[in-house]
Amino acid sequence: MGLFGGDSVIGLDIGTSSIKAVKMQATKGGWEVVAAARVPTPAGTLIDGQIADEEQLVPVLRQLLTRSAVRGSEVVAAVNYTAQVAVRRTTLPVMTPTALRKQLRANPEQFQINSGKEFATDFEVVSLQGEGEAAQMDTVIVSAPRTPVDSCLHLLERAGLDPIALDIEPFALMRSLVECKPAMLPMRSATAVLDLGAVHTDITVVRGPNYIFTRAIPFAGEGFTEVVRQAMQCSTAEAEALKTQVDLTWLLHDAEGRKETPEYQATVAIKPVLDDLLKEVRNSILFYQSQLPDEDLEGMVGAILLAGGTALMGGLAEYMQAAFALEVERADFTQGFAYSIAAGAPELVPDTAPLFALALGLAAKEPQDQASAAAAKAQLKAATKARPGKRRGQAAAPTATPTA
Ligand SMILES: Nc1ncnc2c1ncn2[C@@H]1O[C@H](COP(=O)(O)OP(=O)(O)OP(=O)(O)O)[C@@H](O)[C@H]1O
Ligand SMILES: [Mg+2]
Repeated sequence: MGLFGGDSVIGLDIGTSSIKAVKMQATKGGWEVVAAARVPTPAGTLIDGQIADEEQLVPVLRQLLTRSAVRGSEVVAAVNYTAQVAVRRTTLPVMTPTALRKQLRANPEQFQINSGKEFATDFEVVSLQGEGEAAQMDTVIVSAPRTPVDSCLHLLERAGLDPIALDIEPFALMRSLVECKPAMLPMRSATAVLDLGAVHTDITVVRGPNYIFTRAIPFAGEGFTEVVRQAMQCSTAEAEALKTQVDLTWLLHDAEGRKETPEYQATVAIKPVLDDLLKEVRNSILFYQSQLPDEDLEGMVGAILLAGGTALMGGLAEYMQAAFALEVERADFTQGFAYSIAAGAPELVPDTAPLFALALGLAAKEPQDQASAAAAKAQLKAATKARPGKRRGQAAAPTATPTA
């Protein structure tokens, strides 16, 4: 059952275009994904990823979280990745969470993180290595600007919700698309996970269970709608509808017979801006690969996963596959996922999986944290048994605390 007294948790992805919620429930057989729902975000309430109109968002959240399918109050939400978010991975001697918090406050420069009142810092112990005095903990440290963290927590609390944790968006996607997919974990090659939303595209490179980096590019679905609107001289609503009819594979094959159709013209209008975006994605992949040691050829990016609503654009995976000569797939958690997914939820299917992948990763934070806390406890117990009398204090268990 949930660490926080509840037996369910809701992953809440508050995006510029829509709010997505995925509910996981603790059952006797373990955690299960039970439902998902989505509502449009009122226009203007999120600007540049920041909450700009809490008044309008509160009733929308209240209504979403009282719908029967995703009813609940314990939520995990996320803040946007920005250049001010720092993620550091480091190996430290085993210490208590309180001791590590003190060290982070006293020596932020040692960890290359931002410090001061304007930043919130948190950490997670990924694993423990070695025994006794030599024991070390593999730790991920995150620091994020406090303003978006505080305004997100304030919004959730005003909506009557209980935020049990805040995450950063790329970690949530990595959780649903890599960490909770046992087949992905042993992979030696890296994977680029793209979150193609409404206003920003995030590229995150991961390698097996290891997060490498994220880069945020300030262009996504709304930009494509705008180029279609300009090319077709139509309204934004018409351009948005037309965008769902485009098929980028027409640009790869002979599209004779279609060229006069509005869908084809919209596809042609999208091409140059899409190519610019893909150039940025390619640069990020090349940057990562340039940092690999020469002998580490296995570490090259072997696949690209597409998440976010813009990943649903017709033919995008095929178009990118041709451009990158890499395996490119729409993100899908419905196959090979570590937790069972209730049959019959219309949103939890491959067609809409890219839209819900981030919310699912947030919902899975609590179950995953519980699993790693249990594993760390068992590991510590085994290590202590192996070396009686050598224990130097308690290991820091993975935390599931709010980032505030
Ligand atoms: N079938 C489709 N074809 C093309 N674009 C689509 C389709 N379905 C949704 N989109 C686009 O996906 C975008 C919304 O995606 P998503 O819900 O991931 O964004 P968001 O999380 O609300 O925004 P952000 O993360 O940028 O704040 C919109 O721009 C929408 O036009
Ligand atoms: Mg989003």
